[in-house]
Amino acid sequence: MKPIRLGVNVDHVATLRNARGGTHPDPLAAARLALANGADSITIHLREDRRHIRDADCRVMREALSAPINLEMAATAEMEAFAIALRPHACCLVPEHRAELTTEGGLDAAGQLEALAPVVASLNAAGIRVSLFLDPDLHQLEAAARLGARAVELHTGTFCEAVPDEARDRELARLQAAARKVDALGMECHAGHGLDYETAPLLAAIPEVVELNIGHFLMGQALFEGLPTAVSRMRSVMEAARS
Ligand code: PXP
Repeated sequence: MKPIRLGVNVDHVATLRNARGGTHPDPLAAARLALANGADSITIHLREDRRHIRDADCRVMREALSAPINLEMAATAEMEAFAIALRPHACCLVPEHRAELTTEGGLDAAGQLEALAPVVASLNAAGIRVSLFLDPDLHQLEAAARLGARAVELHTGTFCEAVPDEARDRELARLQAAARKVDALGMECHAGHGLDYETAPLLAAIPEVVELNIGHFLMGQALFEGLPTAVSRMRSVMEAARS
């Protein structure tokens, strides 16, 4: 089986920092700790309202870290220009609504082919690996391939929120079928949203899934067991599921 990567999302370190308007806790310090304890890459979401990560955080991390940075962003002209100037390793295009608490649902790639095509093309041309954050719907995955995306990140929110019964089994089966389809279409399959120690291994066991991006649960766990332990524990449960 291909190895699996862990991307750690440090947005919520910035949420906590911003609550007091100072510099502590520092998202860069959290990123360094995550990388030292089993993360392969760092994910940051620059939202239109800058509620957590800010422009300067992106620049500081790009400068200071040699590990890959995955910049999540809406497919707007402002974000496209920002990403091209920043040149992160990867960009994950997500839908964004101002009032939402977190990213709700995947991008409608099939319904927005015309609007997304130039953004994907210019990020590709800048050498940035583009992934699209999609629900596990086959027609959305086909749209991602038509757009020239290098990867799809499957939205695992519905699966993670389903109570562990038939609904969860059904959602897991949808994710497994979607991962096979993404691979068959020649793109990398990533997954994320709402993953924890119980659900991440179920995704890590899908052979076509090669990257998980996890934030909120790890930052919450960091309060109780510390960030190094939370990240290394997540890494171990993923590796155990993979083998
Ligand atoms: N992947 C994407 C595209 C996201 O938008 C998010 C949430 O910011 C995540 C992964 C991480 O989700 P969580 O914070 O629930 O682990």
